[in-house]
Amino acid sequence: MTATKGLEGVVAAQSGICSIIDGVLCYGGINVDELAEKATFEEVTYLLWHGALPKRDQLEALKKELGANAAIPQELIDSLRTYPRGVHTMAALRTAVSSLALYDQEAQVNSKEANYRKSIRLLAQTPTIVAAYDRIRKGLEPVSPNPDYSIAKNFLYMLSGEEPTDTAVKAFDTALILHADHEFNASTFSARVTVATLTDIYSGIVAAIGTLKGPLHGGANEAVANMLKEIGSLENVPEYIHNALANKVKIMGFGHRVYKDGDPRAKWLRQMSKELTEQKGKSELYDMSVRIEQIVTGEKGLKPNVDFFSASVYVSLGLDTDLFTPIFAISRMSGWTAHIMEQYENNRLIRPRADYIGPSNQHYVQIDQR
Ligand code: ACO
Repeated sequence: MTATKGLEGVVAAQSGICSIIDGVLCYGGINVDELAEKATFEEVTYLLWHGALPKRDQLEALKKELGANAAIPQELIDSLRTYPRGVHTMAALRTAVSSLALYDQEAQVNSKEANYRKSIRLLAQTPTIVAAYDRIRKGLEPVSPNPDYSIAKNFLYMLSGEEPTDTAVKAFDTALILHADHEFNASTFSARVTVATLTDIYSGIVAAIGTLKGPLHGGANEAVANMLKEIGSLENVPEYIHNALANKVKIMGFGHRVYKDGDPRAKWLRQMSKELTEQKGKSELYDMSVRIEQIVTGEKGLKPNVDFFSASVYVSLGLDTDLFTPIFAISRMSGWTAHIMEQYENNRLIRPRADYIGPSNQHYVQIDQR
């Protein structure tokens, strides 16, 4: 038995949700470029869950159900108030989503119908949790969700308590579409491994949130924003990046396990970053990002991934840096739940083997003789 480090190139299962073939990303066979241009996040969610775009009445029904399920239990709001100050937003989200299960009477019901209803609740309630937690930590009262708003609009509304602009909603909705699913990425794979034991959907999602939190995965977008802040200005970029590369420090937001010739989602975020930073008078952020890209791509041949330009997009939308990864989770909830439901449909325990490299033929030695 020989191990493949990081399971690179290993095909772990069949899936009908999302494909990456020759660098082209599709959800349900539709190029993500087309979806980013024409679809809404709710349509994309339906596509991921059902394998086909919704008809008008199906879309309306989904939106209605999402709206009707967006409020979170008062007990959870009360408990968000007790979280220690300064905890990581992804740690708070992980705990809060885990708590949701405690108030869900169907938490232990593993039927197909119950898992679909729980997927709706998870998708609808995650933005409410993130917004409520953000307001509570700032000493503000949470804003109740508006059941008539889309997920993108509702989230921005619940964060600020004000009506977001159409431009902000559109940009945010597009970002949600671009992050919605990505085949067997690390967090989705952990969700699938977890539920393959036939545990409940909440356990799978909690595992996924914990996995997304890491800086090599979803945590990279926050790390990119922190790097931009640390660099401070366009003129500081070359020295900072050259130093980092010389010291073998990874530049967050670059490289990808699957895409070696560029992440197809990055061009959308690049364009959005250009437009939004211009509108908000923050063009230097975009210019710095482009300069970083020139150096990293020029010297290492590494291209930006989805996280790189999303950082300046979210900064332009006025979002706090430590909300970037929770926002990723809001979007990926659609893909995680799709994969969990697919795993349950055709389940087999996921249990690989290890290539043992430790000592052999050892014996127990009494403690005072070691
Ligand atoms: N900056 C500098 N060098 C890099 C970077 C980077 N961002 N990414 C890869 N490299 C280098 C590595 O140092 C390594 O060089 P070496 O062969 O000289 O040691 C080589 O490229 C291969 O890198 P690996 O880490 O082995 O590639 P892997 O496929 O395992 O990792 C990953 C992919 C984790 C995305 C990596 O590129 C990385 O750490 N990037 C930065 C973090 C990041 O942006 N993560 C978000 C990914 S997208 C997502 O999850 C949503």
